[in-house]
Amino acid sequence: MPSSPLLHAARLPWPTNWRRIYGRSAPLLLEIGFGGGHFLIDWARQRPDANVLGLEISLPSLYKGERKIRQANLNNARVVQGSAQLVLQALFSPASIAEIAINFPDPWRKERHTHRRLISDDFLHLAATRLVPGGKLDIATDHANYAAWTTERLERTPYFTSCLNTTFVTTDNERLRTKYEQIALAANRTCHYFKWRRNGKPAGSRFPVLEELPMPHVIMRSPLSLTDIGRQFQPQHTSSGGIHVKLLEVYQSFYDQKLLVETYIKEEPLTQRVGLSITRRQTGELLVGLHDVGFPRPTRGIQLAIAHLAQWVAGLDVETAVLSSNITDSVMRELGD
Ligand SMILES: C[S@@+](CC[C@H](N)C(=O)[O-])C[C@H]1O[C@@H](n2cnc3c(N)ncnc32)[C@H](O)[C@@H]1O
Repeated sequence: MPSSPLLHAARLPWPTNWRRIYGRSAPLLLEIGFGGGHFLIDWARQRPDANVLGLEISLPSLYKGERKIRQANLNNARVVQGSAQLVLQALFSPASIAEIAINFPDPWRKERHTHRRLISDDFLHLAATRLVPGGKLDIATDHANYAAWTTERLERTPYFTSCLNTTFVTTDNERLRTKYEQIALAANRTCHYFKWRRNGKPAGSRFPVLEELPMPHVIMRSPLSLTDIGRQFQPQHTSSGGIHVKLLEVYQSFYDQKLLVETYIKEEPLTQRVGLSITRRQTGELLVGLHDVGFPRPTRGIQLAIAHLAQWVAGLDVETAVLSSNITDSVMRELGD
């Protein structure tokens, strides 16, 4: 039994070495949105030769899943906290998952909320990049409108082929049941079971594994005090190459020679709220970098944010200038454009 079967997506490497997590190489089965964990636990029991992973955004579900794995003494099961789109893209190498099960995804019934549905053209494309050739995609729903929605998207995706003669079936007595499914069946609602598999059509490179870059920093010379810099701060934003950065607020430390700039960065599928720091070194130079509060990931977006902040500071005073930096050249070029 591992020390804990509960994994935190924010702290796992991109991509994650799942063989190391499970201590063995085995086909990887992923359940997205495992809820009460009934299916997940049954799946891990029935497939002792596979590594089974449950993914959830809900903390109560994660704790429940963790407890059930421990109680059942299952060495081949883990649960991970995170949102499906981010976790799939960040933590899994292309062609690394053998099977994906999505049981009774939230239907988002109202018309204005349907864009929140998990199943989308993009999601199917992303799933296609992460499944092995021939890998399975099983989806179940009791919501008629979501079933029609899923039908439309599966029938037009080039990357999957139905394992059935039809798009879905409405009975499957072989299947492991989930809690929502039992409720739906007890209420005489029709369940729709989609059983598809990854076909041979190449899925391209549109969803690369996210990349971490070296921890970025910029060293500057400036006669300005940190208080001078802080007083001139205004909320600001910049965008480049699909990355959006907002510098929201600045705070000054009472104890250190330091400013902390609260920053929001959106670079699909990841969003981060981080602190950028401006520190006065003993040698007198300013160091602009990433504060480590909250386990930030040093992405291209973080580089863009630090480069933008340094550029803003440099613009405050003619004697203020960048002395050196390890920001990627392409980010600096984008900022200059
Ligand atoms: C309607 S419940 C179904 C639970 C379980 N699969 C069942 O059939 O009993 C949907 C579950 O999906 C989870 N969920 C919703 N969006 C998610 C996402 N983007 N990534 C991971 N889990 C998600 C929710 O927290 C919820 O537990």
